[in-house]
Amino acid sequence: MKTVLAIFSSLNGDQGNSSKIANEYLSTIENNEAVRIKRVDVASLALDHLTNEEMQAWMTDASQRNDTKHALAKISDDIVEEVKAADEIVLAVPMYNFGIPSSLKAYFDRIARAGVTFKYTENGPVGLLENKSATVFAARGGVYAGSEFDTQTPYLTHFFNFIGISDVKFVYAEGLNMGEDIANKAFAAASEKIIELTKN
Ligand SMILES: Cc1cc2nc3c(=O)[nH]c(=O)nc-3n(C[C@H](O)[C@H](O)[C@H](O)COP(=O)(O)O)c2cc1C
Repeated sequence: MKTVLAIFSSLNGDQGNSSKIANEYLSTIENNEAVRIKRVDVASLALDHLTNEEMQAWMTDASQRNDTKHALAKISDDIVEEVKAADEIVLAVPMYNFGIPSSLKAYFDRIARAGVTFKYTENGPVGLLENKSATVFAARGGVYAGSEFDTQTPYLTHFFNFIGISDVKFVYAEGLNMGEDIANKAFAAASEKIIELTKN
């Protein structure tokens, strides 16, 4: 059975526009095939910024960690395990202040770990995750896709590629704060894209 890790990052929970389009996709794939969906809402997870202490805990061999270091390393270990267990990552991401939500960045900071999800080699970094894909559902108040101001698409593509996920697709709902007409058209375009991605 296919396992999907669905990561939500809207401040608006299920009512978020990014959540709505990601959930539309998840419902469609659930109807099409047997899937196990694990949902994570990083906005309510409220991870702290990554600290030096937490990073040092990762770098300390498990046998040498004290209780504090065990607890700190576990934050990332648990997240990495969830990512490793997934065949597909579904990411619902709003545009907040020209980038990804800071809660999502804090979550990504727990995923990118040298020797765990990527390694450095003489030829540069190599991702260690295999046989996974990512599908990103991006909601924006304005319109950015294809422009130099779309910081999210290259960043997310690079982040996933870096840890070994080269199959990265995007579904956009843009111009959501530009009037009802434009918003309705944006949701319709996202639905079309979802149909295209999920047709067998
Ligand atoms: C704190 C905050 C910052 C925002 N910054 C931007 C922005 O930089 N560019 C943009 O196009 N829209 C911006 N918006 C609008 C959101 O991208 C838009 O409302 C989107 O639908 C939010 O997705 P969500 O409902 O899944 O949270 C911002 C909204 C909020 C709440």
